[in-house]
Amino acid sequence: MSDRPILITGSTGQLGTALVTCAAAAGLQYVASDRSVLNFDKPDTVESHFFRTKPSLVLNAAAWTDVNAAERNIEAAYRANRNGPAILAALCARAMIPLIHISTDYVFDGTKGIPYVETDAVAPLGVYGASKEAGERAVLQSDARAIVIRTAWLFSAGHRNFARTMIQAARSAPQLSIVADQRGTPTAAIDLASAVLHIVDILRRRGWRDSDRGIFHVANRGDATWHEFAKQIFNVAEAHGEVRPKLLPITSADWPTPAQRPADSRLDCTKLRQHFGIDLPNWRDATRRVITEMLTAREGQVSP
Ligand SMILES: NC(=O)c1ccc[n+]([C@@H]2O[C@H](COP(=O)([O-])OP(=O)(O)OC[C@H]3O[C@@H](n4cnc5c(N)ncnc54)[C@H](OP(=O)(O)O)[C@@H]3O)[C@@H](O)[C@H]2O)c1
Repeated sequence: MSDRPILITGSTGQLGTALVTCAAAAGLQYVASDRSVLNFDKPDTVESHFFRTKPSLVLNAAAWTDVNAAERNIEAAYRANRNGPAILAALCARAMIPLIHISTDYVFDGTKGIPYVETDAVAPLGVYGASKEAGERAVLQSDARAIVIRTAWLFSAGHRNFARTMIQAARSAPQLSIVADQRGTPTAAIDLASAVLHIVDILRRRGWRDSDRGIFHVANRGDATWHEFAKQIFNVAEAHGEVRPKLLPITSADWPTPAQRPADSRLDCTKLRQHFGIDLPNWRDATRRVITEMLTAREGQVSP
């Protein structure tokens, strides 16, 4: 890989922002691309931006991520999560450059009972998961040097996500009802971005190998229910002067949503460790860092 830049799509999102932060810190050349220059709803912008940028590698962090709204916006979800990535993959194949594409634990139905490995059968429960699964297939069926990264339960200091919602809600409600029968892997966007950039560094140093192609699970270590995640969020937030609400454990049935979520979508990240030698920190540690950053950032303001 040469002096040509890394193209980062979805640069305004949680992960996109973290990728830009990590790429800048590593002194890499990159082009941060938001929807105004690369829009999956306007396929010609994908091609024109790609040719203008002449990237050496593409990191695709752009996606339709509103799980509930996807149920009533099926075409738009598929445009962003399948059609757009398919175009990117075809462009990367033609240019013979790697594409690192981000996917989700929601491709699984959550019934396995132990953490999912990359070869487990997919069975998405909703439109979001189905559109992301279709995107994975489109990318992997192309001739691109493709790495598909499945991650989970992303959170960050600066974007709308579960952690921010919790802190915001606790400022006006003394008691919060939190789902305690869904288990997954909370993952700090900054830790995921750091792992992705570590992979990029490996590819740049030793070149692409055919064995790099395929799916990798990448998440913080350990697992939690939403209720356990909320408890850890407030363990940290309380130390920064936030109120700790009473956290009432409830079931998914008590909290009906338009899209069904997998009950247990833990990801086994062994393949990542064995192939690239990368291991992410524990989610509790990640939560401590992110909540601290959130509450010590400019004036400590948390807005939705
Ligand atoms: N969030 C999670 O909990 C989670 C869990 C598992 C996997 N993932 C995956 O991780 C990746 C990053 O997620 P995230 O949390 O960073 O998402 P995010 O914060 O919602 O950001 C998504 C980004 O994609 C852009 N985008 C949306 N639709 C687009 C379109 N049609 N064309 C071009 N750009 C578009 C958004 O632009 P605007 O700002 O203009 O809308 C934004 O920059 C996604 O692939 C997601 O599926 C996320």
